[in-house]
Amino acid sequence: MSDGRALAREYLEQQKLLGGDSVILPDGATPGLRPGSVGPPENAARTPGASPGKTEGRSAQADSALPPLGLSYDPPGGDLFSNDPVPQAASLEAIAGLVASCTKCRLCEARRHTVPGEGPPEARLVVVGEGPGRVEDDTGRPFVGPAGELLTKILGAIELPRERVFICNVVKCRPPENRLPQFDEIAACIPYLFRQIEIVKPKVILAMGGTAAQTLLNTKQSLGALRNQVHRFRGIPLIVTYHPAALLRNPNWKKPTWDDVRIARRLIG
Ligand code: URA
Ligand code: SF4
Repeated sequence: MSDGRALAREYLEQQKLLGGDSVILPDGATPGLRPGSVGPPENAARTPGASPGKTEGRSAQADSALPPLGLSYDPPGGDLFSNDPVPQAASLEAIAGLVASCTKCRLCEARRHTVPGEGPPEARLVVVGEGPGRVEDDTGRPFVGPAGELLTKILGAIELPRERVFICNVVKCRPPENRLPQFDEIAACIPYLFRQIEIVKPKVILAMGGTAAQTLLNTKQSLGALRNQVHRFRGIPLIVTYHPAALLRNPNWKKPTWDDVRIARRLIG
């Protein structure tokens, strides 16, 4: 990040997303360059109400040391000698084809469209949500409803346009009334997600919400307990954050989400 215009643009984007008056300068910004010099007020770098020590602690963490190592989950891959087509699928399209005709769990009954996920196979980031909502079920595309619009903005703000990210969910069919996917539904569907991750081989996985985090880390720990650590899924760094639908209900979580997403950005390089 070099010129003031880009900084100002990023600042305004953060303002919109965070809905507050704090600003987080990107890594490598000139320490002497105050936000005030590119437009925003001089005190903009302070979180209102936060003690200076606390603010410093957060930005020091965001700007230098990464959060501590967390859990590591390494589920076994497909058996080369089995005739299960999912672990053998050679491409994301092949997986989408298998999903399209899948009846392995009861979620197939009420779906309009399957929502396998979308994005380039060379994506450096994989974002994993919970399951399709109504708009996703109507269109067959992940994260295109209100939560998806927020996700698109968040990705844009870290300069990762959603077209460059592989975006998908734990379950590929919509749970009725958007209820939580049940354990047996997740168990039936998870081979698709595991194979998608294996094909994309991202540099980082961003698990959004408790369902994605607990499934990909094989744990029952709460989302709050899992945040702010660098976990691993089959060796790939995995960051846990709030689900964008939760952010729409609780704007207080926008700021911690922003911190999480920036950590993911740094790990992508
Ligand atoms: N919520 C999700 O978890 N996934 C989507 O695709 C949309 C909303
Ligand atoms: Fe198959 Fe997954 Fe849809 Fe269940 S949710 S029917 S396992 S694709």
